[in-house]
Amino acid sequence: MSYQFSKFGHHLGGGSGIGELMDDLGHALASGGPDLKMLGGGQPAHIPEIHAVWRRRLAEILAEAGGVERALTTYDPPSGNPDFLAAIATLLRETFGWDLGPQNVAVTSGGQTAFYFLFNLLAGEMPDGSRRKILLPLVPEYIGYANQGVGGNLFHAIPPIIEKTADHEFKYRVDFEKLTLTPDIAAICASRPTNPTGNVLTDEEIFRLAALAEQHHLPLIIDNAYGAPFPGIIFADATPFWQSHVILTLSLSKLGLPGTRTGIVIGPPDIIRALGSVTAIAGLSNTNIGQQITLPLIQSGEILRLSRELIQPFYLAKCLLARQAAVAAFGDDIDWYMHRSEGALFLWFWFPGLAISSQELYLRLKKRGVLVIPGQHFFFGLADPDWTHRHECIRVSYAMDETVVRDGLRIVAEEVRRAGQHC
Ligand SMILES: Cc1ncc(COP(=O)(O)O)c(C=O)c1O
Repeated sequence: MSYQFSKFGHHLGGGSGIGELMDDLGHALASGGPDLKMLGGGQPAHIPEIHAVWRRRLAEILAEAGGVERALTTYDPPSGNPDFLAAIATLLRETFGWDLGPQNVAVTSGGQTAFYFLFNLLAGEMPDGSRRKILLPLVPEYIGYANQGVGGNLFHAIPPIIEKTADHEFKYRVDFEKLTLTPDIAAICASRPTNPTGNVLTDEEIFRLAALAEQHHLPLIIDNAYGAPFPGIIFADATPFWQSHVILTLSLSKLGLPGTRTGIVIGPPDIIRALGSVTAIAGLSNTNIGQQITLPLIQSGEILRLSRELIQPFYLAKCLLARQAAVAAFGDDIDWYMHRSEGALFLWFWFPGLAISSQELYLRLKKRGVLVIPGQHFFFGLADPDWTHRHECIRVSYAMDETVVRDGLRIVAEEVRRAGQHC
């Protein structure tokens, strides 16, 4: 027997491009042998020193009076544990001088859920029947946003300026000339550092976006899943940014705790209250464990030291090795560019004039046991779906072992050479 689905059911329950891709990757991973090179996922690396901290904290929770109760056996308030909210507010106030308190902080079940709630709170069908959208000032942008609208497409995206910055290197920049804030825009959103490209919007770009948003009485959403103060996987000289009309999201995932599903939203109090209301309706409350594991690390500031002394250098070293491996693999006979790598876990490659689509390249690589993400998925919300650039790029994670990354890139280069490029 088959049942009828609502519009919500059609939009969210009927699968999605990214859902199919993740399924495909998951099956390839499950059936692939030991030689499989998984360069596709967003899984953070396992850093032994960081794992030791989680083990230590779990042992402390077991030993503390009331530790197990706080971590496992009680419902927290929907917006998050009050001590955790206060600790986050204090950390950000003391680290960056931002004028905020616990009323500006909410916990959600992972950053992904924060975006699902935020986008649907602000955009979609409005009370007067009009529709509003989220403006992406630059794509490619995080694939996880793409299908989150309960009423269908939520995004209006602006193609970037592509600036060649060095030999085999480019950087996407916001094209402010094309960025118009029409009345149907509900908010501006960007990830910084950006998944998939490792781009970090410059301070000037962020100031201009914040000023534009303020001028139009709109929030600016900055997705800080990889940025400062934790996990700090950022290599560019960029100033962390928050103002009273900015919604900044953080997460414990890339710190190494994706299994705890802990997202953190910093924003205006009415947005924070609305998030608490949605959490209560959709899930009663959030998981406590991630908050309890990290609470003393946030209160003491140890989380800053771990990010600065362990996590950032770990990923920077991996990133440098992967970049060297790319230079060795692609050489000078392929026309290739890599986005300037300023943070996050990924390298983003562009092969101008690639004679096959990035989707076909993905399939050929999968047959050879190398899993990457084809680039076209990250260009959602664009008015022109046929822009050739979107079929010439791939995302490669460098969080895996060095040999996996090196061998994977060598095979990518072989397949690009085999496919050829139009001049
Ligand atoms: C840019 C960005 N934002 C948000 C998320 C969501 O992460 P989580 O739900 O694990 O906090 C991710 C995950 O990869 C991401 O890359």
